[in-house]
Amino acid sequence: MWSLVLFVVIGLLGSESLVEAGNCTIVAKGNLIFPKDFNFGVATSAYQIEGGWNADGKGVSIWDEYTHNNPDRIKDRTNGDSAAESYRLFDLDLKALKDLGVKHYRFSIAWTRIFPDGFVHSKNQKGIDYYNSVINKLLANGIEPMVTVYHWDLPVGIQKFGGFSNSLIIEQFSDYAEELYKLFGDRVKTWITFNEPHQICKSGYGSEKTPPMVGAPGVGDYICFTNLLKAHGAAYRLYQDKFAKKQKGQVGITLDIWMVFSETNNKTDIDRAMHYNLGLLAYPIFSKTGDFPPILLKEIEKSSFDEGRKRSRLPSLGEYWTKVIRGSSDFMGLNYYTSRFIKPATEPEGENPSTERDYNYQSQPDKNWPRAKSDWLYCIPEGLEYLLKYVRDEYDNVEVKITENGWSDDGELNDDKRIKYYQSHIQAVLNAINDGCNVNSYSAWSLVDNFEWNQGYTEKFGLYSVNMKSPKRERIPKKSAIYYKKLIATRSVPNGL
Ligand SMILES: *[C@@H]1O[C@H](CO)[C@@H](O)[C@H](O)[C@H]1NC(C)=O
Repeated sequence: MWSLVLFVVIGLLGSESLVEAGNCTIVAKGNLIFPKDFNFGVATSAYQIEGGWNADGKGVSIWDEYTHNNPDRIKDRTNGDSAAESYRLFDLDLKALKDLGVKHYRFSIAWTRIFPDGFVHSKNQKGIDYYNSVINKLLANGIEPMVTVYHWDLPVGIQKFGGFSNSLIIEQFSDYAEELYKLFGDRVKTWITFNEPHQICKSGYGSEKTPPMVGAPGVGDYICFTNLLKAHGAAYRLYQDKFAKKQKGQVGITLDIWMVFSETNNKTDIDRAMHYNLGLLAYPIFSKTGDFPPILLKEIEKSSFDEGRKRSRLPSLGEYWTKVIRGSSDFMGLNYYTSRFIKPATEPEGENPSTERDYNYQSQPDKNWPRAKSDWLYCIPEGLEYLLKYVRDEYDNVEVKITENGWSDDGELNDDKRIKYYQSHIQAVLNAINDGCNVNSYSAWSLVDNFEWNQGYTEKFGLYSVNMKSPKRERIPKKSAIYYKKLIATRSVPNGL
């Protein structure tokens, strides 16, 4: 039923050739070769791969503290203390990157490795040396570094002051970003300020699922989003003012988004839902007017007053910040993994208040969509094509980089389902390009199997397996690594190996 509906939805959108919708496949449309300026890469993040959690003067991050204090919150009671040991063994990653033939490598910098207590006077030269070495080795091998400034591992020295609850984060973060521009900006030309605001804010501030476990639904999450947007805007403006002319790089942000389909193809519902999930972050940065989407400002203010509050839980950014934040990205980074069908909730969803209740949709996958090891991850490549077209139409065809996309399993080397996922999703990107979408970069998540946050090492996303039983942490290419290598070499989407 849902599949049929999806077929109809897609049909109405004018993509009638997506006949195998719902089966993790997608039909190629148009040019079969990627444009010359399109780049393929892979992505990782510091806490998930580096290990060396206290090596050479590194400070403690909220993920170090959380996993150490709450081992039972991680599915297999593990942590990122050693992980894939990339801090000690980056050369193994480099070899894998060279084998794949990637044009860029997206990785993040561990704030605490460079500034152990978070503030920029607490400089740790060994940490700086490490990232200099990573960057220089990449460039020596023709691989461009794409650097995420913040990927979820806030220094506890900053969390002490409230982290993203406190507007102090604006100067704390932009000071940190400025130091990175100074240290590495002569060689790093692509910066991503923040990775996945929804994860940072909803999971860590709107709930207690992840550090800092604030657990203030419908309030803490919006405070976090607001401060994060301001910190992003400040860091972007700083680059423009002091570095852009000389360094000539790009600064953007990576947003995490599940595409939505409507059971009845109700455009009003799709638009509203997209404003709530993508627009909450994208609208202030990429729209013509800036600030939060008007529908959110209006609806959340009304709910807040109905709750007897004096102020809205999501106030306007105000004139000054609206101006700072609007236009504060040279590209939109998108992490796309999956999609959901939505329909208006018959009864209020979630706690009162909460972002779920504000959103007010029931959200579910189609039962026919193939599921990964992760319980939230279903293969629905149409969602990626549809998302790219939505961004093209809603945000004036802004430059887009797919900064993550990937599939989890048990870590098997014959990972045919991962190949199918990559094949269909990268084809979806090519279809979107053929349809005029301004997307020029794709990063597969992930290079190596790594620490999947609360899921520990029970869900594997790597193109390379890591021998966790050996101190040498040997990297072993999976079948999908060979597939991706072939895809990169041919700049087309091979039909299997
Ligand atoms: C579309 O959704 C809106 C909001 O949920 C609703 O008011 C409207 O009646 C729906 N339209 C149709 C044709 O179902």
